[in-house]
Amino acid sequence: MAGESYRADIGIEGGKIIALGEHLFDPSAKVIDADWKYIFPGAIDPHVHFQLPFCGTVSADDFENGTKAAACGGVTTVIDFAIQKKGESLMKAIEARRAEADGKVCVDYALHSVPTDWNEATKEEMKAVIDYGIPTFKMFMIYAKEGLISNDDALFEGLEVAAEYGGQIGVHAESVRVLDKLIERYHNEADMKKYGAYLHVLSRPNFIEAEAVQRAIKWSQVTGGRLYIVHLSTKEGAELVKRARHHGLNVYAETCPQYLLLDDEVFKRPNGHLFATCPQIKKKEDSEALWQGLAKGYLSNVATDTCTFDTKQKAMWEGDFTKIPFGLPGVETMLSLMYTFGVGGGRFSVNRLVALTSTNAAKLMGMFPRKGAITVGSDADLVIFDPNKDVTLTYKDLQTNCDWSPYEGMKLKGYPEVTLCRGKVIAGGGKFVGQTGYGRFVKREPV
Ligand code: URP
Ligand code: ZN
Ligand code: ZN
Repeated sequence: MAGESYRADIGIEGGKIIALGEHLFDPSAKVIDADWKYIFPGAIDPHVHFQLPFCGTVSADDFENGTKAAACGGVTTVIDFAIQKKGESLMKAIEARRAEADGKVCVDYALHSVPTDWNEATKEEMKAVIDYGIPTFKMFMIYAKEGLISNDDALFEGLEVAAEYGGQIGVHAESVRVLDKLIERYHNEADMKKYGAYLHVLSRPNFIEAEAVQRAIKWSQVTGGRLYIVHLSTKEGAELVKRARHHGLNVYAETCPQYLLLDDEVFKRPNGHLFATCPQIKKKEDSEALWQGLAKGYLSNVATDTCTFDTKQKAMWEGDFTKIPFGLPGVETMLSLMYTFGVGGGRFSVNRLVALTSTNAAKLMGMFPRKGAITVGSDADLVIFDPNKDVTLTYKDLQTNCDWSPYEGMKLKGYPEVTLCRGKVIAGGGKFVGQTGYGRFVKREPV
C-alpha cells in the first residue's frame, strides 16, 4: 500500500493476493525471487487513447499493442474512453468500445463514458452507466470542430448528476472561444513561416487553461459534483486546484510526465511538431509548480494521456500548426520516469510514488482496494521494480508502435523487471510475455 514499506513474501492464488508475511512456504508454489527489489502494486494509467480516430488519423497504438506497452512499463490497468456519437446512447458507445477492446487487451482495462450529445436522454442515462460499472465521465471543453465539445450547461448538469449518484466528471479544461480566436489570429502564412510549430505555444497562453479550470471548479463548487481535471499543465491551474482543495471542494487533478519533464523549447527543435499535444507542454516554472503539487498532495496522481502518433502521422501537418495530430506516447515510460525524476530526483518518497502512480488513481476511479493495493484480497497486479537498473531511453527498445519518443536519450535509473497481472507474469525485462486478450474489463464502484 502507498502508506507502508516492508519486507515480505506475497502468496498468490486464483489471481488474488492470499497471504502476506515473512517466510511464507508452499512446496508446490512457483517462486519469483524479488530480493533487493521493490514490489509495487501495478501502476494504473487512468488516461489513455488507444486506436482513437482523431485529427484525421487514428492513434497508432491499438488496444493490443497499447496494452502490451503498458505491461512492459509496469502498468496493469488502463482507462480508455467510450465516446458517444451524435444521436447515440452512452451505453451504445460503451458497447462499441468494448467490442474493440475485449479479446485484444493484454492488461485489465476500464472505460470513461464521454457524453458529446447533451440532452435529457443522455443526462438520464448517466445513472445506468454508473450502475453498469462506469462511474467516471469525461467532458472536453474544447474540440468543437471534432464534435467532442461539451458546453457549460452539460458540465454543470453532469456535475449535478454526478453529485446525486456517485459519479465523477473529468474535464479537458481549455477555454475554447478565446483559444479558437487566438488560433485564427496566428493561422496565416507569414506567422506559420516565421514560428512553425511554436505557434502551438503562442496560441495557447496559460490563461487558456486557467480560465477553464476556474470555471469548472465553480460548477463543481455550486453543484457539489466531483470534478477531476485531466492533464493539468500550468502553474495557474495548479494554484487553483490547491485553493479548491484547501477549501474542501470536491476537486482533483492529474498531471502527466510530459508537463513535468519537458518544456516548450521543444517546439523550436527541427522536429518540434512531434511534441504537439493539447494542452501543450509549458514552461519550466509550470513543471516546477506541478512537481510541487504532486509532492505536497494537492495534485492527486500521474496519468499519461497516451495518444500515439508516429512521425509519418505527425508529418500530416505540412507546416500548419492546426493540422498536427495532437498526442504523445507515454504509458510504457510513466513508471520509470516518475521513479527516476520523482524519487531519484529527491522530489518525493517511494511511498508517494506508489500513491501517485497507482493507489490514488484506484481510489478516485472506484476500484480500490481491488486495484492499487498490495493487500490480502486485492488482485495480484504487481511490479517487481529494480531501483538500480540503468537504462538509456530509446523508442527502439520500447513496445509502442511509435518510431520516436519524447524522452529519447534520457538516462533512467530504475525500471520494471517483472509485471504480473492477476498473478500471471505478463512482462519481463521490458518485453511482453503475456497473452493477447488476457486483460479483463473492470467494473467499478460509484465514487
Ligand atoms: O492532444 C491530446 N491530448 N490528444 C488526446 C485527446 C485529449 O485531449 O486528451
Ligand atoms: Zn484532453
Ligand atoms: Zn486525453
